[in-house]
Amino acid sequence: MLLAEARERTLRLIDGVSETDLERVHDPLMSPLAWDLGHIAAFEDLWVSREAGLDQLRPGLAAVYDADETPRSDRGDLPYLRPADALDYLDAVRERALASLDRVSAFVGEMLVHHEHQHNETMLQTLQLAEPGVYEPRRRRPSGRAATGTLEVAAGPFQMGDDGHGFAYDNERSRHEVELPAFRIDRAPVTAAAFGDFVAEGGYRRRELWTREGWALREREGWERPLYWTDDGRVRRFDRVVALEPELPVMHVSWFEADAFARWRGARLPSEAEWEKAARLAGAEPGNLDQLDFGPGPAGPFLGDCWEWTASEFRAYPGFRAFPYREYSEVFFDSGYRVLRGASWATRPRVARATFRNWDHPHRRQIFAGFRCVEESR
Ligand code: AVJ
Ligand code: FE
Repeated sequence: MLLAEARERTLRLIDGVSETDLERVHDPLMSPLAWDLGHIAAFEDLWVSREAGLDQLRPGLAAVYDADETPRSDRGDLPYLRPADALDYLDAVRERALASLDRVSAFVGEMLVHHEHQHNETMLQTLQLAEPGVYEPRRRRPSGRAATGTLEVAAGPFQMGDDGHGFAYDNERSRHEVELPAFRIDRAPVTAAAFGDFVAEGGYRRRELWTREGWALREREGWERPLYWTDDGRVRRFDRVVALEPELPVMHVSWFEADAFARWRGARLPSEAEWEKAARLAGAEPGNLDQLDFGPGPAGPFLGDCWEWTASEFRAYPGFRAFPYREYSEVFFDSGYRVLRGASWATRPRVARATFRNWDHPHRRQIFAGFRCVEESR
C-alpha cells in the first residue's frame, strides 16, 4: 500500500538520528526534522478531515505546521511537537486516514503520498547540511563513465506538460503545444571534472562571466566553489569527506553559478521547454533515484542523480487553474523562483517524471541540483 510504503521510508530515513538532532535547527535554511514529521501529519490531518467531513484531530497545530505562515529560518522557535509526539500524531492521523479511505479521493490519496515523498528529500537536504556525526548513510563508490556529447533536437512543435493519464500537480497542466527552434543539449549534466576546470580557470574570479546579481551574491557569500567542496579538492558527503568523483554531476551550485559556468563554456542553460522536449526524446533509463547510494551516479540521464536548473522562471502554463489548493504552486508563480527539472538521487520514483516542475530561489545551494547546457544549433 502506497501510504504505508511512504511512511516506512520516512521512518527509515530518521532511524539512527538522535532525539536531539531531530529537534535541532541544523541550518537556518531548513526546518528541524521534527517539524517535517509533524508537518506531514498535519497535512494529512487537514486533507483527510476535509475529504471525510470530520473535524481535524489536532486543529490547534495547523498554524504551527503551515509552511506559508512561518519561514523555515524561524521554525525552530515554533511550538512544534517533539519527536515522540510527532510520531504519535503521524500514527493517529494515519489510522483515521485508513478508516476513512473510501471518502478520500484518489487524487488526494496520491497527493498525500507525493507530499510525504517530497518531504523525505527536504529532510535529506537537512541531513546533508548537518555536521558530520548526525547522519551516516552507507555509500558505495560509484563507477562508470559520464555520457558525453550533445543531443540534436530538431526544430518543431511538441506537447508540453501533463498528458492527463497519471497523477500530476496543477502546475504541470494543461498540456499545450510549444514551438522551439533547433537546439543541441548536453547528453549529461555538467560533471564535477568539468566544473573543476571552471573553478581552476578562475570562473569565480571573472566578473564578466556573472550576472550583476550573481556577482553581488558571489562576493557577499564568498562563493569560491560548490557547496560541500573543500579547499583541498575534496567533497563532503554527509559524514565523510571524499575525493571528488570526476564522472559524477556537479551538485550544490546555485542557479547563478550554473549560469556563469554556461557563459564560460559559450553555452547557456536550457529553458524548461527545451529540457522537457529533450528529456522525452532521450527517454532513457533513469539514473540514481530513491536514495539509492545516497548520491548520484555517473552524469547522463535526464531523470535521477541531480535536479537540473533551467533558465526559466516558475510561471503558470496557459489556462492554469489552482488545484486542489493555491499554496502548492500558485503563490510561488512570478516571484523570481527558477524551475528545476528532472529528479535527484534523493527523489522517490513516483515523483520523478519528465513533466514534473520543481522550483527554488536561484541563490539556493542545499538542494541536490546541478545543470546541463544548451549550445545553439549552427
Ligand atoms: C515542490 C519541492 C518546491 O518543498 O516547497 C512540500 C514541495 N509543497 N510541501 C517544497 C512541497 C508542500 C515543494 N517543492
Ligand atoms: Fe509540505
